Amino acid sequence: MKIKKAVFPVAGLGTRFLPATKAMAKEMLPVVDKPVIQYAVEEAFSAGIEQIIFVTGRGKKALEDHFDRSLELEYNLKIKKKYDLLKAIKELVPETGTIIYTRQNQPLGLGHAIWCARDIVGNEPFAVLLADDLIKSDVPVLSQMIPQFDKLQSSIVAVTEVDKNKTDQYGILDAAQIDKNIVEINAMVEKPAPDKAPSNLAIIGRYILTPEIFHYLGKNKKGSGGEIQLTDAMHSLLKKQSIFGYKFKGDRFDCGDKAGFQMANLAFAMERSDIKDKLLKYIKTLG
Ligand code: G1P
Repeated sequence: MKIKKAVFPVAGLGTRFLPATKAMAKEMLPVVDKPVIQYAVEEAFSAGIEQIIFVTGRGKKALEDHFDRSLELEYNLKIKKKYDLLKAIKELVPETGTIIYTRQNQPLGLGHAIWCARDIVGNEPFAVLLADDLIKSDVPVLSQMIPQFDKLQSSIVAVTEVDKNKTDQYGILDAAQIDKNIVEINAMVEKPAPDKAPSNLAIIGRYILTPEIFHYLGKNKKGSGGEIQLTDAMHSLLKKQSIFGYKFKGDRFDCGDKAGFQMANLAFAMERSDIKDKLLKYIKTLG
């Protein structure tokens, strides 16, 4: 079955980036010249996703405006003959794409945010993208995962090995390698302390899930941090269905973290011929 829908939980307050995020959605912070959310939206559309479902909250108007047409701006760029920029803002959403907004009206956690999209997703497998996880890769991660889903016909999450002392920042897997880049998951736990973690194999924010997950999310069970966790619902789903982990190819930046966000800016800027030389020259003067 084709994966047509992708859920983007974007209701978070972005307190880690205050004061920058006092009046601005954290997803709108730019990496070079694109808001961080746009990278993940482009990844979804390029993987063949037709419908983006944003689960938003208060203070996300700029995000909604960003993915809407701005006829005034388009007119302005056209009379100034700035055709490249015109193309860039018109192509944000392809002709075949639609965007739907729904709200998470209480900050009850990632699992609850996904559950808020249940009626829009309906009874079909769907993707989840966490925009904070920005991944630089030749083939976008969702495009790497969809063929794996087609083969396995079961839920699949992106995974990578993390520092053993940082397991308390991730969903961590107990899993067995079954193929080159594929593990089969036996159990998973959200943010375990390093001495309790079953491994250092962590979930990164790309998921393809079967709709049965909504049954478990609907139980509203609170987990780590007193929040309803997607990891816990997936762990429960394991009783009924297999779930796989996919070791993706690419470099992941944690844009929910200040240092990670700056590293992402640096890495993406270094790919740009109009910026790279100036930046390198400056970096050499540091330290
Ligand atoms: C979320 C998930 C966690 C996952 C992480 C990846 O946590 O709950 O399982 O490992 O994203 O970035 P968050 O970073 O939102 O606390």
